[in-house]
Amino acid sequence: MASNQHKVRFNMIVAADDKLGIGKDVSLPWNLPTDRQFYMSHVTKVSPNKKNAMIVGRLTESISRQERKPSKLFFVLSKTLKEVPPRADYLCQSLEEALAIIEGPSLRDVVENVWIIGGYGVYKAGLESPQCHRYYITRVYGDFQCDAFCPDVDSTKFKLVSDPDINGEIQEENGIKFKFEVYERM
Ligand SMILES: NC(=O)c1ccc[n+]([C@@H]2O[C@H](COP(=O)([O-])OP(=O)(O)OC[C@H]3O[C@@H](n4cnc5c(N)ncnc54)[C@H](OP(=O)(O)O)[C@@H]3O)[C@@H](O)[C@H]2O)c1
Repeated sequence: MASNQHKVRFNMIVAADDKLGIGKDVSLPWNLPTDRQFYMSHVTKVSPNKKNAMIVGRLTESISRQERKPSKLFFVLSKTLKEVPPRADYLCQSLEEALAIIEGPSLRDVVENVWIIGGYGVYKAGLESPQCHRYYITRVYGDFQCDAFCPDVDSTKFKLVSDPDINGEIQEENGIKFKFEVYERM
């Protein structure tokens, strides 16, 4: 890649419990329609004739197939898969490989926003990248006995910010308390 190649910025979005649990038995352990709406409103926001790139791990890809839309390109990260999964668009061995395709000549004028939507290894690679701009974390209060987790924010690199468009108060739905937080790379 040429050194003066334009580097894309990306954001990450997750909902995590007190122990940074994000999933159980390859599904979401809670039903929070407001959080689902929050997630969808962010990842589907795109200008006409543009697309959003969604970067996912192999397991998260299998449960996000209902999200496929012409305005989204799905990049699946896996070192074991041999073929692009059904309805996904690209199979990559690493985050760097996915970003290089997004920054390359065929997509750089097509992709508007880049989202990492999980799971652990993809968030971890994302946090280590200087191209990560924001980490949206819905803090779900409680311990949901998860078997999948997300990495916590590195407070030496990211700071909690307030976004006027985001309700930062504690909310409650279906008996579960939760709060939207936004961390930004310093
Ligand atoms: N609460 C939330 O916001 C949220 C969001 C997303 C997912 N989830 C939940 O989380 C669980 C799935 O997450 P998970 O962490 O277990 O699995 P995952 O990240 O979706 O998939 C794991 C696999 O993805 C591949 N992978 C991950 N990072 C990679 C990297 N940097 N480079 C190359 N390949 C990479 C590897 O595949 P290979 O083994 O094939 O190499 C790895 O075994 C589910 O329960 C799901 O419901 C929750």
